Amino acid sequence: MEPLAFKLRSPLFWSRRPNSESVMLRLPTVGRALAGAAKGSLAPSNTARISVRAASNMVEVFVDGKPVEVEPGTTVLQACEKVGVQIPRFCYHERLSVAGNCRMCLVEIEKAPKPVAACAMPVMKGWNILTNSEKTRKAREGVMEFLLANHPLDCPICDQGGECDLQDQSMQFGSDRSRFTEGKRAVEDKNIGPLIKTIMTRCIQCTRCVRFASEIAGVEDLGTTGRGNNLQIGTYVEKMFMSELSGNVIDVCPVGALTSKPYAFTARPWETRKTESIDVLDAVGSNIIVSTRGGEVMRVMPRLNEDVNEEWISDKTRFAYDGLKRQRLTQPMVKDDSGQLTATTWEDALTRVAGALQSVQGSEVAAIAGGMADAEALVSLKDLLNRLNSENLCTEEVFPMAGAGTDLRSNYLLNSRIAGIEDCDLLLLVGTNPRYEAPLFNARIRKSWLHNELRVAMVGHNVDLSYTYDHLGEDTAVLKELANGTHPFCQVLSAAKRPVVVVGSSALQRDDGAAILSTVSTIAQNARTSSGVEEGWKVLNVLHRVASQVAALDLGYKAGVDAIRKNPPKVLFLLGADDGCITRADLPKDSLIIYQGHHGDTGAPMADIILPGAAYTEKMPYVNTERREPAPGARHISGGEPGPHNLTPLVPQHSKGRYMTAGSFLSDGQVVKTITEGAAPCTVYSFRNQKRFIVNRIKRRALWLPGVIIRWADGFLLLYSITHASTTGGPTTPRNSSARPNKVLYSVAAPPNCLITARTWQFEEARQRGQEG
Ligand code: SF4
Ligand code: FES
Repeated sequence: MEPLAFKLRSPLFWSRRPNSESVMLRLPTVGRALAGAAKGSLAPSNTARISVRAASNMVEVFVDGKPVEVEPGTTVLQACEKVGVQIPRFCYHERLSVAGNCRMCLVEIEKAPKPVAACAMPVMKGWNILTNSEKTRKAREGVMEFLLANHPLDCPICDQGGECDLQDQSMQFGSDRSRFTEGKRAVEDKNIGPLIKTIMTRCIQCTRCVRFASEIAGVEDLGTTGRGNNLQIGTYVEKMFMSELSGNVIDVCPVGALTSKPYAFTARPWETRKTESIDVLDAVGSNIIVSTRGGEVMRVMPRLNEDVNEEWISDKTRFAYDGLKRQRLTQPMVKDDSGQLTATTWEDALTRVAGALQSVQGSEVAAIAGGMADAEALVSLKDLLNRLNSENLCTEEVFPMAGAGTDLRSNYLLNSRIAGIEDCDLLLLVGTNPRYEAPLFNARIRKSWLHNELRVAMVGHNVDLSYTYDHLGEDTAVLKELANGTHPFCQVLSAAKRPVVVVGSSALQRDDGAAILSTVSTIAQNARTSSGVEEGWKVLNVLHRVASQVAALDLGYKAGVDAIRKNPPKVLFLLGADDGCITRADLPKDSLIIYQGHHGDTGAPMADIILPGAAYTEKMPYVNTERREPAPGARHISGGEPGPHNLTPLVPQHSKGRYMTAGSFLSDGQVVKTITEGAAPCTVYSFRNQKRFIVNRIKRRALWLPGVIIRWADGFLLLYSITHASTTGGPTTPRNSSARPNKVLYSVAAPPNCLITARTWQFEEARQRGQEG
């Protein structure tokens, strides 16, 4: 089959890693020449890269007299960045095509008659770029004066205030006066949906949003109308900005023209605390920053990770946070005699759980993990059940376990990695819609389709993926034909040099899921053989939809709940399991269901004991669909062996993602560990040492917070709030305090092995600050 359609291509294009040296902006001919050279080698090694560079005759230029060597086609702006000189810019964005329309990046080139736009001008040999000259300074001031001629001075009420490029650059490069006395123009706001707020009078027409929409998101919804002073950004006709990545225009807009509607007027950037975390609303594991104020999540923003999400996040990731503070499970609950769930204390709930687990045989206990369970909780739950002699650990998400099943880790991973899609030349998607299951993975496919001439084919529903593809059909018969070589597309597959096959986890959840996986494996194996690709290249990939699945399979959880259906347990532990795959009717009448989670959908109402859990913004770690694991320091859940099946270790996800908002004082894993100590005491967690360390740490912290005292007594660690502090007003500690506690804020059963972490303390501290604030 012929390639499907004409592809958009920006006049200047990029290789994929803006920070690496090989990522200079190139003129089309040079770019293609280099791309050809790289393609010829098929396996771009360092040697190949070096030889391409050596042959490219580096160009020597000077930045403020400082010499620097750059590749041909490098722009003035990039050459300046190479020596650490930042050029102000508005329209330029390193992941978008060059527009060159704001002129903020004007710089003087020695002996040139006029300043040049640094973002769009390739360097020439021997140029001396003057970034600090009088001419450059005047040019910047002039541009800033023009931009501010129409920009409203509403910074005090603008949500971009504090993180506005225009604000910052006008302070640094602008003048303190303007020669414009005319009235400012006003532009009508556009309604582009419930997520993005527009204040179009603030727009400086940089067109970043337009380029983002058409190049990254793949929708042509945004554009410009009018000319000159009448130029406007809009959707031509009133309509929603329909993209799963639409929220990213909030970040790319350098001014306050496009802001977040849910976040509008709720907080200022300097009031919030930023915690680095990982998103778990799909299995990609996008890197995020959770911005919080006084215990409340105010917004979620992307965090740069070139290998995972670059600098984008999906709308689900960005805007789902409002659910975190509503309808949370905040108190342990137990079912009373009338069958009603009533609030109780942690001690009571944990004691009941431990008692119930002690009263049954190992074979009568089972656990089901939900899609958002973190790896720490999964490990703790497995430890707990193993200590009770039970191996009945299942996940809600189904995955075929027949044959080699999950014995081989590479059978259930996205082995080629998300960024690896940029290295392949043919992608076959089977039974997946990555645009909705993993929007950032889809954005990566689109990027490769756009810039690397990636050819995509699909077996499954004919959906809009934001790029063109060969639709081979929806039937499993197509897969069989592809496997036995009778389908016409087999010729294309066998001609591919770096093929990748991605099967969606949803396709494997059908009754014939095992057969589909086996057929897809055959297709991948055939493609691998015909391509002659090097040993390390993985053709078969699985795209998961839920965040916990890879960690759970790594730990030996069984995928699906068939084992529990066949052997109904007397005690069932639901770790955030809310899909309703097991109901009361599937269990014996006298069975006990324990539910641990932060909201509770179908799992909580059928439970006998509810333990409030931490939401994903409040706990770590997770393993994403491509096996990217927690950062060093966190427990390595695959037993410290990153490459049990010859998989290259990936750069770990870096996160400090622990932050308590509501519900549990402990992370889910810590609650389960506490239960373990009650139900099946062990020395695994060496709680005694931990207890001593933590108590000392809490005491030290208490020095800084008069108003709360801690007492370790009668088997309980108690945190008290006090209304009248010690008369000296100095530090209050349990030993020397003269203050009388009047309210127990929090208590937990302590000896012999209670686990209270410093986080418990931090939460109290944060909550107090919030209340005071
Ligand atoms: S809305 Fe923002 S991003 Fe779009 S053109 Fe205007 S200033 Fe640029
Ligand atoms: S940044 Fe160069 S013209 Fe806008």
